[in-house]
Amino acid sequence: MIQNKKVLVTGATSGIGLSLCDFLIHQKCNVIAVGRDESKIKNLLDKSRNELKFISLDLNDFNNYSKIFDEMLAGEKFDGFVHCAGIEETFPLTMYNPENVKKIFDINVFSGIELLRYFSKKKYSNEGASVVFLSSVMGELGQPGKIGYCATKSAILGVVRSSALELAKRKFRVNAISPGVVNTPMTQKLFSQIEDENIQKIKEMHPLGIGEVEDVVPIITFLLSDFSKWITGQNIKIDGGYSIQ
Ligand SMILES: NC(=O)c1ccc[n+]([C@@H]2O[C@H](COP(=O)([O-])OP(=O)(O)OC[C@H]3O[C@@H](n4cnc5c(N)ncnc54)[C@H](OP(=O)(O)O)[C@@H]3O)[C@@H](O)[C@H]2O)c1
Repeated sequence: MIQNKKVLVTGATSGIGLSLCDFLIHQKCNVIAVGRDESKIKNLLDKSRNELKFISLDLNDFNNYSKIFDEMLAGEKFDGFVHCAGIEETFPLTMYNPENVKKIFDINVFSGIELLRYFSKKKYSNEGASVVFLSSVMGELGQPGKIGYCATKSAILGVVRSSALELAKRKFRVNAISPGVVNTPMTQKLFSQIEDENIQKIKEMHPLGIGEVEDVVPIITFLLSDFSKWITGQNIKIDGGYSIQ
């Protein structure tokens, strides 16, 4: 139900995306991993030359997307696309300006829409393909200092619902997952910038403790698989109970 599917993964060089690539390869999928720094995925590439291909792309370079699809991905037909690339920033409202809000939107939202636009063309995807966007519990909940990040993660939910309707004619499914705090380089960076007391508070906000990538990746795989073939336009929270309080 997932074996032999060909999946395009962004954010493949770190955290959830890197772990997803590893998991999918073990499920006998073919994976095309998009990222900037190949050295961060080298170990996996060395182990999985036949199943994993790396494409170097800075997602800020929107003008290069057509080149990537028309040259490097020509002839590839995908069954799945997962947009794991994302950035998180914390600013007080007084420091927000259109440029730094746009910077977060470019990666978290606009690059995902643009990649989906290419992906949805018949020459790049099979009927019944599945798309998964990474939102966050912050897409529905607020947090001081996170106006930009929260706005992007809410926007993703709108993208998911609208594109799910538009692409249903090709039996595509488009869904989001919304993790709570997961132990990845993104979280490690955040934790390195805040007091121990605040780290403890964040941990305590998760009744089951903060998550590991292994808690998230199987749900993405389920959404990519045929087991979820009647689920579309949804947002699945995976947050150790964070959002039920
Ligand atoms: N970790 C959490 O607690 C958590 C919770 C909820 C939602 N999420 C979401 O889950 C997704 C993955 O998060 P993560 O924790 O795995 O983050 P991560 O470890 O920081 O990985 C982020 C990935 O995005 C890529 N990326 C960033 N900017 C890019 C650009 N300009 N061009 C190409 N790639 C770029 C990074 O590539 P480089 O390696 O080249 O920088 C990296 O592969 C994000 O959308 C995040 O918002 C995470």
